[in-house]
Amino acid sequence: EELELGGHAHFMHKEIHEQPESVERMLTGRLDDRFGTAKLGGLNLDPRELRRFTRVKILGCGSAYYVGQLGASMIEDLARIPADAEPASEFRYRNPIIEPSTLYVVVSQSGETADTLFAVREVQRKGGTVVGLVNAVGSSIAREVDGGVYLHAGPEVAVASTKALTHMSIGFALLALALGRVRDLSHADGKRIIAGLRAVPGQIAQILAGEEELALAAKELAPAPSLFFIGRVRGYPVAREGAQKFKEITYRHAEAYPTSELKHGPLALISPELPTVAVIPDDDLVERNVTAAQEIRARGGAVVAITHPGVELGDAATRRIEVPRNEVELDPILLTIPTQLLGYHAAVALGEDVDRPRNLAKSVTVE
Ligand code: G6P
Repeated sequence: EELELGGHAHFMHKEIHEQPESVERMLTGRLDDRFGTAKLGGLNLDPRELRRFTRVKILGCGSAYYVGQLGASMIEDLARIPADAEPASEFRYRNPIIEPSTLYVVVSQSGETADTLFAVREVQRKGGTVVGLVNAVGSSIAREVDGGVYLHAGPEVAVASTKALTHMSIGFALLALALGRVRDLSHADGKRIIAGLRAVPGQIAQILAGEEELALAAKELAPAPSLFFIGRVRGYPVAREGAQKFKEITYRHAEAYPTSELKHGPLALISPELPTVAVIPDDDLVERNVTAAQEIRARGGAVVAITHPGVELGDAATRRIEVPRNEVELDPILLTIPTQLLGYHAAVALGEDVDRPRNLAKSVTVE
């Protein structure tokens, strides 16, 4: 095991640091510069078939569901098709309406999550088309779907998923690109997204180089019994995944909230004992997000801001974590990376068993 850790203290740490290389590998051969699109032969859908879908429904469990929410916004942004994500565990039990014109997308690291597998079968029984974004080659879900995109993240040992999630969000970017390019996404915009994807591995490496600052922030967050993760629109799924990771391995209560909803309730809870991790990208909502962070600061709450270079935070943040800018549609992929290290270093500071959190299994094969 020591050898496999390759000098890292934990598998989670190793897997976080594998991302620049693993993402590079995942993209190899999948970017079509000539047509400004993604090459996804495994989908088993030719351009005409891809064009017939008028809606996308994404299904996954746990973190895969949160990445699915990111994926839905990429699909809406790039392909302008209504898209949403739902926990596979809920979907299969609520007698869902299956439409032939909807593309169902299941997302799973292990490919063995029972709730997700049964969602595949429910869709197929009712005549729907379902494709998979799956990491484990030859897994049950990979075998049963009508087509798919392998994530090629390599084996993930730590129970708390990191690199597989990053690969899922890149898988969604590729799918969104392919769906967009058979619709209204221009060649130029396709090339813009391709260039953005090519920049991701180097930018992840840049974020990982700032690990020391993240470890300091994590150490400050660790003693708090409870904390908020907030973000808006594309930043909200980032906050949800950040909170999930934090909970899973630190056993601290972390709640994700849309920044816009703070004033409609949870602001009442803010105090010096309750810190917030705020996702504040340099997008259309930056000023509103900074104002919300100032409201938290005014009530004595600490704010760790995950933000872009050039964003003026003033006194709205107690710690600033910078992430390089990419294309606005792809920014969430990078904004998520610091939350992996925040959770990791907080758990280490608390002395928890980072790779094997209590009560959780790497893949949940029971219903
Ligand atoms: C379990 C794990 C989660 C994971 C989820 C989905 O609940 O504890 O961390 O996100 O399963 O796993 P999958 O293998 O389908 O991605």
